[in-house]
Amino acid sequence: MSAVAEAAEQRWAIIVAAIIAVLIAMMVVTGLHWAAMPPSRVETVDVKTLHLKGEFVESNLGTALESDGKVVVRVLAQQYSFQPQCLVVPEGMPVTFRGTSSDAIHGFSIGKSNANTMMIPGFVATFTTTFRTAGEHLMPCHEYCGIGHEAMWARVQVVPQQEFLARIGQEKRLSCVRR
Ligand code: CUA
Repeated sequence: MSAVAEAAEQRWAIIVAAIIAVLIAMMVVTGLHWAAMPPSRVETVDVKTLHLKGEFVESNLGTALESDGKVVVRVLAQQYSFQPQCLVVPEGMPVTFRGTSSDAIHGFSIGKSNANTMMIPGFVATFTTTFRTAGEHLMPCHEYCGIGHEAMWARVQVVPQQEFLARIGQEKRLSCVRR
């Protein structure tokens, strides 16, 4: 009788050991896989010099019409506001957003459009979208970033293409922040 019990216990000990071994192997394989395979697109930026030089200095934020004809919006997120606080984009033209954060993880989505991204310190978030209709949208921060999170939001004005091109012809960086 005891021999039967011992055999059964031994069998189950082997099965449990095998399950544990498989789980550990899965952890090792996936860990190595992710370490060896970075996300397809990683663009970094130095948080310490963000305000001093480079793409995200204050004078370079807002909407620009690049020399190649592309519309690029540069945004900086920080506790607890976006810079600029009000963005102007054209209707019916591809708009590329480039943004980063100077402190915590922030994020934003724009109205009911598919514009939606996270902003992580040290990395440049970028996506391109086209706004089909003119109008004004809210752009709230959607990553919990601290006690002021719920008050962190900006506005986005989608204006007709002709109006946009006329306005951006006069200014290098366009925004609708009231001065
Ligand atoms: Cu910034 Cu929540």
